[in-house]
Amino acid sequence: MPNELLDELVAEVRDCRKCRLWKQAKNPVPGEGKTEARLMLIGEAPGYQEDVKGRPFVGRAGKLLDSLLSGIGFGREDVYITNIVKHRPPENRAPKEDEIRACAPYLDRQIRIINPKIIVTLGNHSTGYILSKINVNVRGITEVRGKIFEGELLFGVPSKIMPTFHPAAALYNPAYLSSLKEDFRIIGKELGL
Ligand code: URA
Repeated sequence: MPNELLDELVAEVRDCRKCRLWKQAKNPVPGEGKTEARLMLIGEAPGYQEDVKGRPFVGRAGKLLDSLLSGIGFGREDVYITNIVKHRPPENRAPKEDEIRACAPYLDRQIRIINPKIIVTLGNHSTGYILSKINVNVRGITEVRGKIFEGELLFGVPSKIMPTFHPAAALYNPAYLSSLKEDFRIIGKELGL
């Protein structure tokens, strides 16, 4: 369904100059999906393909994410997907602290607008940012993945949060794939699927 607040946010991200990343990016990648999604997924930052297309998770990691979603009966049209940083960092480097700080208010607004039942954080960066909001200090993704955290994420927004590995990690090391599949089974169960 169309959502004015999300449309406004997309327009702001398009013109955003709050950090340096816009300068080398081809396109902003604000995020996309169902505005009433019960499941929201948060990655790290757009990569090459995402930068070219202006859409999140459309490269190899995205294909794997699609197959994990289809394993629980979901397609892109059922979920909302975004990243912690909305422009591609040069050479796919990790986003810097000040870039995350500048960009994260957009993510906070997206969470408030979508108000999902469960938020899945993909990888270290989004997990660290989101869990810090409920005062969970994350030393590494391995110790928190597959666990459901509950808390009032933003004022008045109670949420369940499930951290898991970034799908790109499973492309480099297939050992992560079985953990990702297991975590998505738990997500499906949480959603009553
Ligand atoms: N990796 C991410 O974290 N986000 C994307 O959109 C694509 C790859």
